[in-house]
Order: sequence, then C-alpha cells, then structure tokens
Amino acid sequence: MLRFWVSIGFSLLIHTEFCSAFCPKNGISGSTAGSCFFGLELNKTFDDANNFCATYFNGKLASITTPLDDSKVLELARSFFKSAENVWLGGTYDGSKIEWLDGSPDVYQNFVSETAPGKVVLNLKGGQWSTPTWNSMIPFICLVKDNDISTPSPSPTVPSPNTCPNSSPCPSGWTYIETFKSCYKLIYTVNGASGDENCRVANANLASIHSPEENKIVYELTKTGVNDLQAWILFGGQRTGLGVDDWKWSDGSPWNYTNWAPGEPNNYSGNSYCVRFYADVTNPAMTAKWDDWPCDMAYRAALCQQPAKF
Ligand SMILES: *[C@@H]1O[C@H](CO)[C@@H](O)[C@H](O)[C@H]1NC(C)=O
Ligand SMILES: *[C@@H]1O[C@H](CO)[C@@H](O)[C@H](O)[C@H]1NC(C)=O
Ligand SMILES: *[C@@H]1O[C@H](CO)[C@@H](O)[C@H](O)[C@H]1NC(C)=O
Repeated sequence: MLRFWVSIGFSLLIHTEFCSAFCPKNGISGSTAGSCFFGLELNKTFDDANNFCATYFNGKLASITTPLDDSKVLELARSFFKSAENVWLGGTYDGSKIEWLDGSPDVYQNFVSETAPGKVVLNLKGGQWSTPTWNSMIPFICLVKDNDISTPSPSPTVPSPNTCPNSSPCPSGWTYIETFKSCYKLIYTVNGASGDENCRVANANLASIHSPEENKIVYELTKTGVNDLQAWILFGGQRTGLGVDDWKWSDGSPWNYTNWAPGEPNNYSGNSYCVRFYADVTNPAMTAKWDDWPCDMAYRAALCQQPAKF
C-alpha cells in the first residue's frame, strides 16, 4: 500500500510510510498490525469474491486466526450487511483442516458441528462458520495487510500508525476503488431523472467510463449474477444531439470511450437520451455493453461516482 499513499503527494508522504493498510470506513483493524477487514455488499462466488479483493484492494478473502478477530469480524458483518445470511471468508475446509487463501496458519476454527468439507462462510445469525454450496453468490469480507508496517521511522516527528488516516476517502456506504481513486454507490429503483438527482444530492454524479478497465469495474459493481432481461443500470451517458457521437458524461469528463452493443446507439423508440448498462443479461455477447435508452424507463439501479477525497 506504500505506493498508493506516496502517489498522493508530499504532504501526506510524512504519514505514509507507516500507515496501516488501506482501511475503508466500514473496515476494522485486525490483531495483526496494519491489517484491515472490510465487507463488500456484492453477491459473488468464492473465486470471484477473492479476485475482487485481490484486483481492487490488493488483498484476499479474509482469514481468521484468533477468537478476537473472529468476534470483531462477526460484529462488523452484522452491522454492515443488511440482508445477508452468510458471507465468504477465505478458507477451504477439508473436514479437519482449513487452508486460508492468504497462507495464514490453521490455528483457530469456529465451525458448527459436523460441517462438511467446502468453502468457509461466516453465518451472521449463529456467529459460527459453515460451508454452504460451493457456488453460492453471497457478500464477502476482504482482508488487506500492510507489508510496510515494520519500516523503521526516519524521524521522531513521524506519527505512529494509529494517527494515520485509517478511514476511507469515501463517505460511509460507498465502495472505494483505488485503481480509479473513486467512490461508487448503487441507488436502487430509479429512472433517468431520479437516478441523476439522487447522485447529485449525494455530492456525486452518475458514473462515467473512459476505459475498458472502468467499464469492467462498473460491471463488477453492478452485476448480481442473476440474469434478468431488465437488469439495466443507469450510468452517466447523456445524449446531446442527433449524431452517433453526440454524447456527454453528466460529470463533465471527456466522452472518449464507448462500449456500445452492436447496432447501438439507435435512438430506439425515438427518445433514447440516456444509456443503460447491461449488467446481467442472458446473451453473454451483450454483457457490460451499452444501449441508448429512454430516460423515463425504470432502471434496476443507478451507479453514482465521486472522486475519492484525501
Ligand atoms: C444479494 O442477494 C440477496 C439475496 O438474493 C439480495 O437480497 C441482495 O439484494 C443482493 N445484494 C446485491 C448488492 O445485489
Ligand atoms: C479519457 O479522458 C480521461 C480524462 O481526461 C483520461 O483519464 C482517459 O485516459 C481518457 N481515455 C482515453 C481512452 O483516451
Ligand atoms: C430520435 O427519434 C425521434 C423520433 O424519430 C426524433 O424526433 C429525434 O430527433 C431523434 N433523436 C435523435 C437524437 O436522433
């Protein structure tokens, strides 16, 4: 995480080399110095969840090796996840031993009795661990650890790790994506006008996309895994005129990348002044593609975005 903090400039550099791992607002520090557990309210399989922790946070699905971390993570999960029953931890259980994805030792277990071999979840109700079907799509807990925490201090004025910014550069309830230095949040059940308005009220804009990588994160944040013909997500593309290229982003950033579905934009139905993002569609060729679409239609959710604040 060192690189990340250093890149934001000299004023923070003083703090930076000794800061604990990046910890979002909903995160808690673990018993290992510089470690942070946090929840992601996205439904994913075990493998996809771990990839998400790795790609966007340089972490892994969480390992738990002490009773204290176990109870802290349970408390975190119970307060953070609104409707989840189980959440992924990063372990594979063979009936007696656990292999943790981050290589942590198998020194603590908290299974309900007679747990079958499988991928480990934390059950929020009972507070213990079990192994549901391997391909469940559920929320998850990431763990990031800071390898730089033990770097010796060159100067006595350097604050201790405790004074480092240990909160997210995003408001609570928003997902921070380090790669884009942006905060994202989904707002459910909107049309074009209310989605735009709800983002603005939250000091944000509808999300804008300028690269395949940004298109991918929009997909990762909005897909549920449940194919649904109406799984459209509103984001920030807005039509400004009659031409194919007459589009702008609601946040004012340059319109310099598109990922239209074949034959789009076609002004279908004659008033397609917004764009829908195909999050979960039955035709894989359409996945993560865009289509111009009437603003007054119902969208499953709007994706809001705001720059991270440091
Ligand atoms: C995850 O799935 C649960 C149960 O199907 C659902 O209630 C919840 O809204 C989903 N969460 C997200 C972020 O899609
Ligand atoms: C589009 O513009 C943004 C903002 O200036 C920039 O970060 C991005 O790299 C550009 N993308 C392309 C594909 O040129
Ligand atoms: C969309 O189609 C309608 C109806 O044909 C037309 O009046 C309008 O100018 C078109 N808009 C664009 C941007 O092509």
